[in-house]
Formats: sequence, structure tokens, C-alpha cells
Amino acid sequence: MASKCEETITLPDGRKVKIYTGLFINNEFVDSVDRKRFETINPATGQAITSVIEANEKDVDIAVEAATKAFNEKWINVDGQERGRLINKLADLIERDLDELAALEALDNGKAYTIAKSDDLPFTVAVFRYFAGWCDKIHGKVIETQGDKFCYTRHEPIGVCGAIIPWNYPLLMLAWKLAPALACGNTIVLKTSELTPLSALKVAALFKEAGFPKGVVNILSGFGPTAGAAIASHMKIDKVAFTGSTATGRSIMKAAADSNLKKVSLELGGKSPNIILADSDLEEAVKWSYQGIYQNHGQCCCAGSRVYVEEPIYDNFIEKFKTYAQNIKVGDPFHKDTFQGPQISQRQFDRIMKYIECGKKEGATLLLGGKRHGDQGYYVSPTIFTDVNENMTIMQEEIFGPVVAIAKFKTIDEVIEKAHLTKYGLAAAVFTKDISRAIKISNTLRAGTVWVNCYNVVNANTPFGGFKESGFGRELGKYALELYSQVKTVQINLEC
Ligand code: NAI
Ligand code: MG
Repeated sequence: MASKCEETITLPDGRKVKIYTGLFINNEFVDSVDRKRFETINPATGQAITSVIEANEKDVDIAVEAATKAFNEKWINVDGQERGRLINKLADLIERDLDELAALEALDNGKAYTIAKSDDLPFTVAVFRYFAGWCDKIHGKVIETQGDKFCYTRHEPIGVCGAIIPWNYPLLMLAWKLAPALACGNTIVLKTSELTPLSALKVAALFKEAGFPKGVVNILSGFGPTAGAAIASHMKIDKVAFTGSTATGRSIMKAAADSNLKKVSLELGGKSPNIILADSDLEEAVKWSYQGIYQNHGQCCCAGSRVYVEEPIYDNFIEKFKTYAQNIKVGDPFHKDTFQGPQISQRQFDRIMKYIECGKKEGATLLLGGKRHGDQGYYVSPTIFTDVNENMTIMQEEIFGPVVAIAKFKTIDEVIEKAHLTKYGLAAAVFTKDISRAIKISNTLRAGTVWVNCYNVVNANTPFGGFKESGFGRELGKYALELYSQVKTVQINLEC
């Protein structure tokens, strides 16, 4: 008997929501070849929400076949204006279903429902709308050459793109990859994280409703070592875009090199330094720094996990920051006042607790938190370490939880040197009222994004990506189009 591919679930607040559990291939929700399913967990309770159909290598093959056929026979002939219309239509439908989609994010991921509604979903819509606008503005140039030749370039789609996304921002990560890929005229096979498959499947149904031709967007639920690895090494996938851990990013790049040398873009982790100078507006610096680390429960690639505070204001900063952290509302994602819900999984909870133990063992001072919050689900209380140095594990490795390390510094040269003592280079921030110093320090910091007097400010039209081992390629903004198109040079001899 075929597995069921849709059902109705009841949300914690009593609402009933229709969800899809099948693999989305060729605009249909289908069973997998091996008819396997896996459970997705509500991290607030540790209980299964439901089970979804699991893709493996064979299902990836089927999805790639669908995407290849759609690219060659249909999508390649759909002009930019029509692609833009379809993407805008999709954005309208996401907006129509915003409440339900935000609720699915909260249920499957554990993030606060009110924040999913006010931040994640509107940003998702904005990303689709932004790239919808690019569709009919993607074009090459005429290049002057010598003699009787005529040369121009075309910006063509790459073909079938693979996307492998994480669980921390399920719909945003989907949008960051699908929107520019579709705008440039590619077709896609996207694998969601095994921890958060539900919201993307709901959006899959909206792609169909919006009128996208079958096979243009294919969305699979499945695990990394099977479905994910099959995408990375597939001979008929022309490009793979990945967001997640540096270790997995490395294996994806290897798989691409060992298969068909598909193009790769990687958005990996970070250990971002946040530098607070003595002349900054202290209230503002505290407010942004607390958002910088605790937003999304610390499960953010650009989290400001290393805060460096100039000596004269250090004590004052710590006192104010601690007050903010103590007052964070941790709890049920569906409670309207909640800021911090549970971590995504038991595994991530255990990892974070291990890092906290390691911090204590290596001599850092645990100023706040460091323990489980509540008696069910994967909650970690907001945690602060002080008396830290760059040799400590908690100053080097990405913890991906609500854990911040705060250090003191005396000179700019010293803090820049310390800021750079990490393999990562995703983001950094500096707080000061002195604009010249802000610019000089921003220029020096080796990071893909530098925030001045703010944190975590990312827009649909502003590029985002890493230096060093935080990856390469820029998502969002016009730069993202380069990841999903290739330049063809046409040389014409006018003499014949
Ligand atoms: P991960 O990098 O293993 O998982 C991210 C995605 O990659 C998921 O869809 C997963 O199924 C897939 N994947 C895993 N192994 C794969 C493989 N061999 N081939 C292809 N795809 C594969 O990250 P995980 O285990 O969920 O989290 C571990 C750590 O990674 C976190 O503690 C955090 O430090 C970091 N991370 C960073 C993220 C970011 O936004 N930069 C997002 C998620 C995790
Ligand atoms: Mg889940």
C-alpha cells in the first residue's frame, strides 16, 4: 500500500493544519522508491509530530531526471517576465498562508511563533519578491573588439541546481537558494534538513498552486549521508549550494570534485567577533549584542559569540548585558512572549552542554546559565562566560547555542589580532561613535559582513557570505545571480 503523502495535524494552539509528507517531484507528492519514512520531532516536547517520506539515492535520481527534463523541455523557454510573475505569485501565496507557515516553523524547529511571523516569513517573502524583480534584468554585454568582429556575452542558467539546507531557518534558507536559482532560469532539487522537513513541503504545494511547470522545483526530505551525498556527487547536477557545518561543506566540495566538478557555493559556520569600544552608546551596544548572540537561540551562523569589550566600560557592559540575558523569556514557542524556544535536537542540546562543561574545565568563569531550562524539550538557559582567552575551545568552535563568551581588551591592535584568531570569517561587528575608527576597523576585519553599531541586519538586497573557512559565494543581493548563472561569450566574424 502506498504511504500517505498528506494529513491534517493539530497545532499546540488547537488549530488544524493540512501538511504534506511526500517527496515533491514533478509537482506531485509521492512515495519514495524504498517506501521508508522518518519521524520529525517537536523540540519543545521531544515528541514526534509525524513522519515524512524519506528520499535516498534512487529518489534523488528520479528528482534529477524530472528537473533535467523540465529544464530542457520547458523552463529554458520561459522568459524572464514570466519567471518573475510566477515567483511573485509564489510570494503572494506564502503571504496568504503566512500564519500557518510560521506555525509549522515554530512546531518543527522550536523557534518562537511570533518571531517566525514577524521576521522569518516576511523576510522569506521579501527574498522571493526581490529576485522576482531580477528575472527580466539578467543580461550580458556587448564588448568592443578589434577588427571586423562582434562580441557579446549572455548570462545563461547553469541547469539543474542542487540545494542542501539546514534546520535553523528552514524557509529562509530555502528562499535564499530557490529564489535566485529560479530567477536565473535553473531547475532545482532541494533537500531540506531531516530535522525540519514540514514547512518546505507546505511551500512545495504553493509552487504548484502558483503555476510553476512540473519538475522545475523538486523538494526532498531525507538525511545527509544518503540523499544529501547523492546530490553532492550526482553526475547530472550542475551546481550545488549548501548551508551548514564546515565539516559537511568540506565533504560536499570533495564530492563535487570527485564527480562532475559541479559548481559549489558554501555558506558555513562562524565564530563572529563583536567589538565594543569605550566610546560607543552602551545601551545600544548591549541591546544589539544580546540580539546578536541570543537570536534564534544562538542557532545562527553569524551569531556574535565572541564579544570583546574595551576595558573602561567592561564592568558596566557585563552588568547590563547580564540583566538582559537574565530577563530573556525562555519557553513554549507558541507563547506570545517567548523569545527563546528549545534547541533543535537532543544532539545539539548535548553538544552545547558539552561545550559549556569544556568552558568550565578550561578555566572560563560561568557568569550565567549553563544548564537545562525546564524539564522537557531541549531548552538551554541563556549562558555567559567571562575570563576567556583565544586558546579555549569555546572561543574557537561554533557552539550554535545561547552561549556567549565576553572578553576584555585594551588596544585596537590587540582586539583585531584576537578577532582574527579563528578559522572562520563570516561576520563581525564594531560599536563606536567615531565614524573614522568604525570604517578603519571594518576595513581591517576579515569577515564577509561587518556591522557597525548594529548586529544581524541582513536584507534581501545585501550580499551575505563568508571569508576564510566560512565558505565562499555571496547569497542575496545582485551578487547571488553570479552563483546561478554562467557567462557565454559569443564572437562573430562580420567578414563572412
Ligand atoms: P550539517 O552541516 O551536518 O547539516 C546541514 C545539512 O547538510 C542538512 O540538510 C544535512 O542533512 C546535510 N548533510 C549532512 N551530511 C551531509 C553529507 N555528507 N552530504 C550532503 N549533505 C549532508 O549540520 P548539523 O549536523 O545539523 O549541525 C552541526 C553543526 O553545524 C551545528 O552545531 C552548527 O555548528 C553547524 N551548522 C551551521 C549552520 C549554518 O547556518 N552555517 C546551519 C546548521 C548547522
Ligand atoms: Mg523537527
